[in-house]
Amino acid sequence: MKRVFSGVQPTGNIHLGNYLGALKQFVELQDDHECIYCIVDEHAITVPQDPKELREHILDVAALYLAVGVDPKKSIVFVQSDVSGHAELGWVLCCNSSTGELSRMTQFKDKSKNKESAPTGLFTYPVLMAADILLYDTDVVPVGNDQKQHIELCRDLAIRINNKYKKTFVVPEGRFMKAGARVMALDDPTKKMSKSAENIHSRISLLDEPSKIKKSIMKATTDSEGIVKFDIENKPGISNLLSIYSALSGISIEDLEAKYEGKGYGDFKKDLVEVTVEALAPIKARYEEIRHSEELIEILKDGAAKADAIAQKTMARVKENFGLGLGR
Ligand code: TYM
Repeated sequence: MKRVFSGVQPTGNIHLGNYLGALKQFVELQDDHECIYCIVDEHAITVPQDPKELREHILDVAALYLAVGVDPKKSIVFVQSDVSGHAELGWVLCCNSSTGELSRMTQFKDKSKNKESAPTGLFTYPVLMAADILLYDTDVVPVGNDQKQHIELCRDLAIRINNKYKKTFVVPEGRFMKAGARVMALDDPTKKMSKSAENIHSRISLLDEPSKIKKSIMKATTDSEGIVKFDIENKPGISNLLSIYSALSGISIEDLEAKYEGKGYGDFKKDLVEVTVEALAPIKARYEEIRHSEELIEILKDGAAKADAIAQKTMARVKENFGLGLGR
């Protein structure tokens, strides 16, 4: 069975972009893959975090994994900092990456824009992400489009080290959704939907109330033409809403265009509200059930033990191939 690894940062506001780009894939893959899903808290501290809030957000994301359908009987679910191999391998990979290639990472450029100095961890963030993936001999990494460049770097590092030392790592591949790989902000369809945008109506969070979902969708930016048609270049707003509708309902974009022919954006948006509320209601219900349960903690502890067993084997191989330690 092929192995899958992916992670989500424990910050608030997990949104439709995270769900349609990544989490939905997590669930799809777990029947015929060996899946490992991580809450990447070490990535979260590349920007300032309140310690109390961080702890809460770790459990929020873990509960959301389960609420969307990740099954701990099939998949390993754990917190990154509970397995020391991530930071350990991160260091080894840092020594095999260059400041030049890390300077080209667009996410680093965005996050450090207009700042005189940025945390070193923000700069080496993609190397830690590569460590996450390579630590588990991962074949497939389900993510949104925004992570493409990071996956490429991970592949480059794996190939580079395999060529320089003995073959040490499996070279992984990214996996991206057709609809949902890049969900755009509702208030500005030229930007991606993000957890940190100030305007709450730019995103739909998975735990939003129906009234909030309605408001955000009805306010969503479209155009003045009033024709429901997919055209990313000229009609990015309605195209984004069509992608969301299609990904949530399973109806193809062509069928949706036909369904709304001759109807305005108002009718389309009203139906999209209904589809979204219906899709998110069971997620919210399951989340409430599990979020404060002892079961959740047990699942994460059990997941960390299983992940650590795999990680230790990889680290032993890495140390052997690099000549680190005593080798016995
Ligand atoms: P994060 O926490 O920002 O996002 C989690 C996942 O959601 C996807 N995503 C989106 N997909 C579609 N449309 C959007 N608007 C959108 N916004 C976010 C992301 O692509 C991601 O798949 N670096 C990663 C976390 C990470 C990771 C890893 C992922 C750390 N180590 C190892 C895979 C493997 C991140 O910041 O994701």
